[in-house]
Amino acid sequence: MIIITGASRGVGNFLLNSYLQQSEPQVIGTYCNSIPTVNTEVFEKIDVTKMDEINDFIQRKAAVLQDITLINCAGISYNAFTHKSDPDKWKSVVETNLFGTYNFIRTLLPLMREQKFGRIINFSSVVAIKPTPGVSAYAASKSALWGLSKSIAIENAIFNISINNINLGYSELGMIETVPEDFKKQIVAQIPAGILCEPKDILSTVNYLRSTRYITGSSIDLTGGLI
Ligand SMILES: NC(=O)c1ccc[n+]([C@@H]2O[C@H](COP(=O)([O-])OP(=O)(O)OC[C@H]3O[C@@H](n4cnc5c(N)ncnc54)[C@H](OP(=O)(O)O)[C@@H]3O)[C@@H](O)[C@H]2O)c1
Repeated sequence: MIIITGASRGVGNFLLNSYLQQSEPQVIGTYCNSIPTVNTEVFEKIDVTKMDEINDFIQRKAAVLQDITLINCAGISYNAFTHKSDPDKWKSVVETNLFGTYNFIRTLLPLMREQKFGRIINFSSVVAIKPTPGVSAYAASKSALWGLSKSIAIENAIFNISINNINLGYSELGMIETVPEDFKKQIVAQIPAGILCEPKDILSTVNYLRSTRYITGSSIDLTGGLI
């Protein structure tokens, strides 16, 4: 069973469609505000900041939750210089990106430990590595995933559970759609590989991390050389 949070758009939606096409083990995608119009039968409405919604989902799906891969894609960003930032918006980025990831992991870990299998893959970001103005909340939430993962990794390695992060650079999918064309060109000019990350590279990295228990607590830079 593959569970992909934030599968209604962008990277999560691409991964969901890829696994559906490959007739992988059962896939479930979550959405929050963007109501899916295709493959609606594989979607569940869950706000990752709400523990009760996640618990309810786990209870309803208990019978099919076997050999779980959890791919945490749900995320938001907020652009503001820190001295002008809105504290509530700043907090909501951390609540979604960090607490939301923790909430899903916390709810599934007991089951993974019982079954002695689990693969957890979180989406972190290059901006947690590369100093970038206007993204202090986002960078804080994404770098926090590294520490969280290292601790969870050693708590659970004996149970054949791995947890890793993909530090994604600038992808063709998702959040980049909100970036103006001019700025997008400037971003691409800085990437040593000379292109945005192609979806196939995201899929192959996720599959690589799914394929082994022995990589755990790691964060892989998927940035085309950008640091
Ligand atoms: N795209 C990139 O270049 C890039 C680069 C680095 C890192 N990342 C990371 O990769 C992940 C996917 O990014 P993306 O570009 O695909 O993002 P996106 O297109 O903006 O999609 C974000 C997804 O997160 C979901 N989401 C947001 N808040 C939620 C909440 N409270 N509860 C449940 N779901 C929620 C959205 O669901 P609804 O629309 O249904 O609300 C949507 O499906 C994110 O964690 C992002 O930080 C992306």
